[in-house]
Amino acid sequence: MDSPFVAVARAADIPSGGFTKVDIAGRAFLVAHVGEDWYAVEDLCSHEDFPLSYGCLEGGRIKCSLHGSRFDLKSGRPLEEPADTPIATYRVALADGQVWLDPTAPTNRG
Ligand code: FES
Repeated sequence: MDSPFVAVARAADIPSGGFTKVDIAGRAFLVAHVGEDWYAVEDLCSHEDFPLSYGCLEGGRIKCSLHGSRFDLKSGRPLEEPADTPIATYRVALADGQVWLDPTAPTNRG
Protein backbone atom coordinates (compact mmCIF):
# COMPACT_ATOMS: atom_id res chain seq x y z
CA MET A 1 0.00 0.00 0.00
CA ASP A 2 1.46 3.32 -1.05
CA SER A 3 1.69 6.61 0.80
CA PRO A 4 -0.30 8.42 2.11
CA PHE A 5 -1.73 5.23 3.62
CA VAL A 6 -0.25 4.17 6.95
CA ALA A 7 -0.45 0.64 8.39
CA VAL A 8 -2.30 0.95 11.70
CA ALA A 9 -3.26 -2.58 12.80
CA ARG A 10 -3.32 -6.24 11.87
CA ALA A 11 -6.73 -6.98 10.39
CA ALA A 12 -6.92 -10.25 12.34
CA ASP A 13 -6.67 -8.31 15.61
CA ILE A 14 -9.97 -6.46 14.97
CA PRO A 15 -12.83 -8.95 14.63
CA SER A 16 -16.15 -7.86 13.17
CA GLY A 17 -18.00 -5.81 15.74
CA GLY A 18 -14.77 -4.47 17.15
CA PHE A 19 -12.73 -1.33 16.90
CA THR A 20 -9.40 0.01 18.00
CA LYS A 21 -7.87 3.38 18.68
CA VAL A 22 -4.77 4.27 16.69
CA ASP A 23 -2.35 7.15 16.93
CA ILE A 24 -0.70 8.68 13.88
CA ALA A 25 1.77 11.47 14.61
CA GLY A 26 -0.10 12.49 17.73
CA ARG A 27 -3.55 12.39 16.12
CA ALA A 28 -6.10 9.87 17.37
CA PHE A 29 -8.26 7.82 15.04
CA LEU A 30 -10.77 5.05 15.56
CA VAL A 31 -10.77 2.09 13.16
CA ALA A 32 -13.87 -0.11 13.19
CA HIS A 33 -14.74 -3.42 11.56
CA VAL A 34 -18.41 -4.15 10.83
CA GLY A 35 -19.09 -7.26 8.76
CA GLU A 36 -17.34 -6.76 5.42
CA ASP A 37 -16.83 -3.07 6.03
CA TRP A 38 -14.04 -1.11 7.64
CA TYR A 39 -14.27 2.49 8.81
CA ALA A 40 -11.87 5.13 10.04
CA VAL A 41 -12.95 8.28 11.84
CA GLU A 42 -11.35 10.84 14.09
CA ASP A 43 -11.43 9.68 17.70
CA LEU A 44 -13.18 12.81 18.86
CA CYS A 45 -16.84 13.51 19.48
CA SER A 46 -17.93 16.71 17.75
CA HIS A 47 -20.05 17.71 20.74
CA GLU A 48 -17.46 18.25 23.47
CA ASP A 49 -14.22 16.79 22.09
CA PHE A 50 -14.57 13.56 24.05
CA PRO A 51 -12.81 10.39 22.78
CA LEU A 52 -15.27 8.22 20.87
CA SER A 53 -13.07 5.20 21.61
CA TYR A 54 -14.53 5.27 25.15
CA GLY A 55 -17.89 4.50 23.57
CA CYS A 56 -19.36 1.42 21.96
CA LEU A 57 -20.08 0.18 18.47
CA GLU A 58 -23.68 -0.34 17.40
CA GLY A 59 -23.50 -1.85 13.94
CA GLY A 60 -22.20 0.87 11.63
CA ARG A 61 -22.46 3.50 14.36
CA ILE A 62 -20.27 4.62 17.21
CA LYS A 63 -21.99 5.85 20.37
CA CYS A 64 -20.33 8.53 22.46
CA SER A 65 -20.22 7.44 26.09
CA LEU A 66 -20.42 10.96 27.51
CA HIS A 67 -23.84 12.20 26.30
CA GLY A 68 -24.99 9.38 24.04
CA SER A 69 -24.91 10.82 20.54
CA ARG A 70 -24.37 8.17 17.88
CA PHE A 71 -22.48 8.83 14.66
CA ASP A 72 -22.77 7.03 11.34
CA LEU A 73 -19.27 5.69 10.67
CA LYS A 74 -19.59 5.98 6.90
CA SER A 75 -20.80 9.57 6.67
CA GLY A 76 -19.67 10.85 10.06
CA ARG A 77 -23.11 12.38 10.61
CA PRO A 78 -24.60 12.53 14.11
CA LEU A 79 -27.85 10.59 14.37
CA GLU A 80 -29.23 12.45 17.37
CA GLU A 81 -28.49 15.34 19.68
CA PRO A 82 -26.70 16.73 21.51
CA ALA A 83 -24.05 16.43 18.77
CA ASP A 84 -25.05 18.34 15.63
CA THR A 85 -21.81 18.35 13.63
CA PRO A 86 -20.28 15.43 11.69
CA ILE A 87 -17.05 13.80 12.80
CA ALA A 88 -14.29 13.48 10.21
CA THR A 89 -14.11 10.24 8.25
CA TYR A 90 -10.98 8.87 6.53
CA ARG A 91 -10.10 6.38 3.82
CA VAL A 92 -9.29 2.91 5.07
CA ALA A 93 -8.08 -0.14 3.11
CA LEU A 94 -6.94 -3.71 3.67
CA ALA A 95 -3.74 -5.11 2.16
CA ASP A 96 -1.18 -7.70 3.22
CA GLY A 97 -3.22 -8.58 6.31
CA GLN A 98 -2.95 -5.01 7.55
CA VAL A 99 -5.45 -2.21 7.99
CA TRP A 100 -4.27 0.96 6.29
CA LEU A 101 -5.51 4.48 6.94
CA ASP A 102 -5.02 7.67 4.95
CA PRO A 103 -4.78 10.40 7.60
CA THR A 104 -4.14 13.26 5.18
CA ALA A 105 -7.64 14.52 4.45
CA PRO A 106 -11.13 13.71 5.71
CA THR A 107 -13.39 12.20 3.08
CA ASN A 108 -16.45 14.09 4.27
CA ARG A 109 -15.11 17.61 4.38
CA GLY A 110 -15.00 19.86 1.36
S1 FES B 1 -19.30 14.65 24.17
FE1 FES B 1 -20.13 13.18 22.81
S2 FES B 1 -22.28 13.51 22.90
FE2 FES B 1 -21.47 14.99 24.26
